[in-house]
Amino acid sequence: MSSELLKISGVSKSFPGVKALSDMQLELRGGEVLALVGENGAGKSTLMKLLSGIYVPDEGRFVVDGEPVVIGGTKHAQELGISIIHQEFNLMPDLTVAQNIYIGREPRIGGIFLSETAMNRKAQFLFDKININLNPKQRVGELTVAKQQMVEIAKALSYKSKILIMDEPTAALNDAEVATLHDLIRNFIKPTTGVIYISHRMDELKAISNRITVIRDGQYIDTVDTATTTMPEVITLMVGREISGEQRPVAAPSSSETVLKVSGLSTKELLKDVSFDLKRGEILGFAGLMGAGRTEVARAIVGADKMSAGTVELNGKAVAMSNPAVAADLGVGYLSEDRKHLGLMLERDVKDNIALSSLKRFSKLGFLNNPAMKAASEEYVATLRIKTPSIAQAAKNLSGGNQQKIVIAKWLVRDCDILIFDEPTRGIDVGAKEEIYALLNQLAATGKSIIMISSELPEVLRMSHRIAVMAEGRIAGFLASAEATQENIMELATRTAAGARTTETPAGVQG
Ligand SMILES: Nc1ncnc2c1ncn2[C@@H]1O[C@H](COP(=O)(O)OP(=O)(O)OP(=O)(O)O)[C@@H](O)[C@H]1O
Ligand SMILES: [Mg+2]
Repeated sequence: MSSELLKISGVSKSFPGVKALSDMQLELRGGEVLALVGENGAGKSTLMKLLSGIYVPDEGRFVVDGEPVVIGGTKHAQELGISIIHQEFNLMPDLTVAQNIYIGREPRIGGIFLSETAMNRKAQFLFDKININLNPKQRVGELTVAKQQMVEIAKALSYKSKILIMDEPTAALNDAEVATLHDLIRNFIKPTTGVIYISHRMDELKAISNRITVIRDGQYIDTVDTATTTMPEVITLMVGREISGEQRPVAAPSSSETVLKVSGLSTKELLKDVSFDLKRGEILGFAGLMGAGRTEVARAIVGADKMSAGTVELNGKAVAMSNPAVAADLGVGYLSEDRKHLGLMLERDVKDNIALSSLKRFSKLGFLNNPAMKAASEEYVATLRIKTPSIAQAAKNLSGGNQQKIVIAKWLVRDCDILIFDEPTRGIDVGAKEEIYALLNQLAATGKSIIMISSELPEVLRMSHRIAVMAEGRIAGFLASAEATQENIMELATRTAAGARTTETPAGVQG
């Protein structure tokens, strides 16, 4: 591990109104995993898009394997041995898994006829080799976010790459899947290959990286050896200040008034007899293994999925929420885990994304109060530190984490009494996470009630007054904040209906 695989220097890139990168540098050695970290909007994805030929730099030198190169486009980047797994998926939902992987380079019989069978076989061979559990013939649109991520990874590995770029590959994965991915990377690494790895999950940097390059506001800050650096040191480099994370939630809700009561909720597919209360001012966390039914509970409550049995009461009155729009009108907001498809209007600007779903609040006698919409948007752009040149910027031009902040802002403006947040901090940097936690605590203190589903157990532990642990579509038990630990959450999460423990490994625990 010493040869220089890639050297970037003096790189600049601007977009209208935004200097995304200036005088950026980076060096990747053969045989290493180099983590690239920085706050939301720091320029990580932009740098990787330059490297993979998607954007053209304004300035800069790129040296691959000792040879200066001008990367002419995505095909050229692939020829140079550079592959990228994007933060936002580029898959075609109507095609199969194998078609997505081999699109444009399908195996052909006699060089002419496309052979679906050969392609599926080739895909299966690849999955076996890299130990990924995927069905080549399945339509990608039917896959979970985690499985789609696996397709992206398989696709990148199907090229003979020397340099593999992974832009937040684990944002949608659970701990067991993260471990599988790390194994994949260790298998991929040879003295002649290297990986650039972008992640906001500080805990995994220690596990997978050799060195860490930190960037801030489009500028290079430093590169450190992972083994001799602590994560708080890395975070301080990232955000330019220290972050003190409190470990436990704010004081328990003072009210014992039940605002939401779910009784005997069942669905055809998964949920069985789910019952719980949510108090005014309470943050109720939902923990459980992947597939335990946390998202399904949220979806059934707001009418995104059909209930086969059960009742939902709001403030003591039975209600029927036939879809998420009706739910929101009744004061129940649902922030979906699927930001790209359900949460954002990518072509619309920041202001519309934040304010349009709260039209009632901003219209009087049929007239839109545009200044009020602007003011509310400006306020949340400031509070959540959304990095954008203005509120007139199209949402698609914002970085991944800043798009997520917009979805959160949208629900905060909507001013619901009950908020159901499914993976709210996915892709959000450590500093901004703290700000979002503070905001949620503030909301709870003013009497709003929050259900928080998160795949990061430390997050559930630190935010929740109470934790509902799900297993196999049921609620296995509740834990009060003071008594909850990773261990007893896991004990409940792996309990089957019969009371026995499942064989699921502890690493698979999800919050
Ligand atoms: N196509 C574009 N048009 C305009 N601005 C852009 C475009 N792409 C990126 N930007 C801006 O460049 C800056 C850097 O964005 P980038 O996506 O590289 O951030 P990032 O470090 O990957 O952040 P995150 O952690 O949120 O993914 C941001 O301010 C972003 O809004
Ligand atoms: Mg990014």
